[in-house]
Amino acid sequence: MARDRCTECHSATLLSQNRTSRDGWIRTIRRMEKEEGLEPLGDLEKPILDYLAATYGVQVKPTELRRRRAPLRQPPVADGG
Ligand code: HEC
Repeated sequence: MARDRCTECHSATLLSQNRTSRDGWIRTIRRMEKEEGLEPLGDLEKPILDYLAATYGVQVKPTELRRRRAPLRQPPVADGG
């Protein structure tokens, strides 16, 4: 499995604790290559990226992107009474 390459050095828990976007995973892979000694993934990079983004991505639901803020015009809250 593709992600085995990422669990050679640490557990998958580390991945689930660091959920991020696809861009974030690209940066993480680059850092693993540069600083932690990950062998360049080559052809595996894309499937691994797909896997990370799908499994450990940040879920932004399309409905949330479209959702507007609450209307500003709200009746003032009566104070005391
Ligand atoms: C050669 C060993 C090695 C491999 C292979 C490796 N990592 Fe890491 N990774 C590390 C080390 C070392 C740390 C730092 C752990 C710590 O701080 O306790 C780390 C930390 C992390 C973290 C924690 C956050 C951070 O940025 O420090 C994430 C997320 C992560 N790795 C993702 C990945 C992914 C995704 C892959 C596969 C593409 C991968 N790693 C492959 C060695 C590796």
